[in-house]
Amino acid sequence: MNILKKTLSSLAIASFGLVMASSVWAETATPSAKQPNVVEKKAPTKEELAPANKDLKIESSNEKFAEKYPNQYNSWKDTSKSTEAAPAVEQDPRLIVLWGGYAFAKEYNKPRGHFYSVTDVRNILRTGAPKDENSGPQPMACWTCKGPDVPRLIAELGEEGYFSGKWAKGGAEVVNSIGCADCHDTTSKEFEEGKPALRIARPHVLRALDAIQKDFASLDRDDKRAAICANCHVEYYFDKSTGANNVVFPWMKGVDVDSIEKYYDEIGFKDWEHSISKAPMLKAQHPDYETWLQGTHGKNGVTCIDCHMAKVQGPDGKVFTDHRISNPLQDNFENTCAKCHDQSKETLTKTIAAHKKDIKEVMLKLEDQLVKAHFEAKAAWDAGATKEEMQDALQAIRHAQWRWDYSAAGHGGHMHAPDIILKVIASGLDRVADARAKLAVVLAKHGVQQPIQYPDVSTAEKAWKVMGIDIEKERKDKEEFIKTVIPEWNKEAIEKGLILTPPPAK
Ligand code: HEC
Ligand code: HEC
Ligand code: HEC
Ligand code: HEC
Repeated sequence: MNILKKTLSSLAIASFGLVMASSVWAETATPSAKQPNVVEKKAPTKEELAPANKDLKIESSNEKFAEKYPNQYNSWKDTSKSTEAAPAVEQDPRLIVLWGGYAFAKEYNKPRGHFYSVTDVRNILRTGAPKDENSGPQPMACWTCKGPDVPRLIAELGEEGYFSGKWAKGGAEVVNSIGCADCHDTTSKEFEEGKPALRIARPHVLRALDAIQKDFASLDRDDKRAAICANCHVEYYFDKSTGANNVVFPWMKGVDVDSIEKYYDEIGFKDWEHSISKAPMLKAQHPDYETWLQGTHGKNGVTCIDCHMAKVQGPDGKVFTDHRISNPLQDNFENTCAKCHDQSKETLTKTIAAHKKDIKEVMLKLEDQLVKAHFEAKAAWDAGATKEEMQDALQAIRHAQWRWDYSAAGHGGHMHAPDIILKVIASGLDRVADARAKLAVVLAKHGVQQPIQYPDVSTAEKAWKVMGIDIEKERKDKEEFIKTVIPEWNKEAIEKGLILTPPPAK
C-alpha cells in the first residue's frame, strides 16, 4: 500500500512538477511536505465577506414552482407530514444542567420536516420575544439554515449586511421554509428545462467546502448532491471578529471531533461561559455531514441523496427525485437500502435500532458524569477555589462536553457512523473522568466533603429551578410575541410578494 502511494506521488512530481493537487498526494503528505501554496484557511476577515451581488437573482418562493414541477413540489410539501418534534430537554432534564446559562436549556426539540423550519424558529423559546427589530436576544445568523430567503438576502445585502443586526430584523423577510432555491439555481436555464442545477448560494458554505478541498464547482455529481445538505446539516459557530456575527464552519483542520476542538482551542473560542461551573463551553450544532463523511457509507460514496431523496416513479409513470426527505429505512426501503443490501427490512431495522440503543446507553453515562462535574466545579468555586486551581478542570469539562454534544447533536449518528460516535463518546468519558479527578483534588484542598450534595434535577421543572430559569415567564413572553409580532411579519411578507400564504402557526 505504502509503496504504491509513494510511487504515485513521485510519478506526480516527475510528470507535473508542482501541480500535484491530486488526492493521493493530499492523503500521503505529512504536514511539513504539503505543497508550499497550501495555506491553512481562516475565518474570513471583514474585507473577505461577500459583497452584495445584484446580478444574482434568487427566486425564494416555493409556491411558485408548484405548477411547473408538481411531482417535486408535492413530495417536497410532504415534508409537512413529519409533524413530531420531540421536546428534548423535558425528556432528558440533564440537558438543562449541561446547557446552563445558554438558551438551549430553555427549549430544544428533535428535528421534524423541512416544511416547519420557519415556524419552529419563530416559536422556539430560544429566539425569545423581541418587540421590535432591534431587540434581542438572538442575532440575524439564527435564520441562516431556515430557508431560501437567506441566500436571496445575502445576494441583496452582502454578507455583512445580512449578518448584522438582531434576529427580529429578518422576521418579515425569511418566510419561505427550506425549499427549492436552497438547493437549486431556480432562475437558471437548466432548471427551467427540468434538470437539477444544484447550487450552493451561501458564500460561507462555499468557503467551508474549499477548506476541506471540496470546492463545489469541481465536485462530481455525487459529492455535489451531498454538499447540498452541508448547507445546513453541519457544525458551525458565529464569528464576531468581523463585527457582523457571521456563520463560519470550523473545518480548517478537518471535520472530526479532535480537529474541530483543536481549531476552537487555538482561536480561543467559546460559545458561552457555563452559568455554574464557569467552564468556557462549546455548543456542537448538528454535524451530520461531518459524521457521514467519516462513516462507512460516506467513505463508500453512498450519499444523503441515495437514502433520503431516492428516485421514485410518479403516478404519471415518470421517474423523479422524491423530495420528501423521508426516513429511508421506514418509508422507502425498496428504493434505498434494498438497492445495495441483501438483508431484509426487518434485519436492518433491528441492526440500526441496536446501534441506537447502544449509543444512547453510553451517552447517558457521559451526561450523568458531566452533570456531576458542573456541580462539583460550582462547589469548588463556592469553597473559594482560585482561577488557577480550576483552569485545567474547566478545560477538561469543555472538551468532555464538546465530545458529548458532537455525538448527541448530530441527528442519525447511530445510522450514519455508529463506530465513530461510540469512539467520540468514549473519549468524552475519558475527559470527564479527568475533569472530576482534578476537581476532587481542588475540593479536598478547600476542605469540601465528598461526595458533594448534588441538587435534584430529576424533572425539567426541578432542573429549571436549580439553574435559575423562569420558564413560565419565558413561555408567557413568547405567547405574547406570537400573538402580536408574528401576524405583522406575515402581513408584511405577503404584501411584499414573498409568500402567498403564511407559514403554519404550529
Ligand atoms: C434539500 C435540497 C432540495 C430541495 C429543498 C429541493 N430540491 Fe429538487 N432536487 C434535489 C436533489 C438532490 C435532486 C436530484 C439531483 C440529482 O439527481 O443529481 C433534485 C432534483 C430536482 C429536479 C430534477 C428532476 C428530478 O426529479 O430529479 C427538479 C425539477 C427539482 N428538483 C425541483 C425542485 C423544486 C420545484 C423544489 C421546491 C419545491 C425542490 N426541487 C426542492 C434537492 C432539493
Ligand atoms: C437550508 C437548510 C437545510 C438544507 C439545505 C437541508 N436541511 Fe435538512 N433540516 C434543516 C432544518 C433546519 C431541519 C429541522 C426542521 C425543523 O425541525 O423545523 C432539518 C431537518 C431534516 C431532517 C429531519 C426530518 C424529519 O422529518 O424528522 C432530515 C432527515 C434532513 N433534514 C435531511 C436533509 C438532507 C438529506 C438534506 C440534503 C438533501 C437536507 N436535509 C438539506 C435544514 C436544512
Ligand atoms: C445509508 C443511508 C443514509 C445516508 C447515506 C444518510 N442517511 Fe441520514 N438517515 C438514514 C436513516 C435510515 C435514518 C433514520 C435512522 C433511524 O431510523 O433510527 C437517518 C437519519 C437522519 C437524520 C435524523 C432524522 C431525525 O428525525 O432525527 C438526519 C438529519 C439525517 N439522517 C441527515 C442526513 C444527511 C445530511 C446525510 C448526508 C450528509 C445523510 N443523512 C446520509 C439513512 C442515511
Ligand atoms: C448505494 C448503496 C448503498 C445503499 C443505498 C445503502 N448502503 Fe449500507 N452499505 C453500503 C456499502 C458499500 C457498505 C460497506 C460494506 C462493506 O464495507 O463491506 C454499507 C454498509 C452498511 C452497514 C454496515 C456498516 C455500518 O456503518 O454500520 C449497515 C448497517 C448498512 N450499510 C445499512 C444500510 C441501511 C439501513 C441502508 C438504507 C437506509 C443502507 N445501508 C443503504 C452500501 C449501501
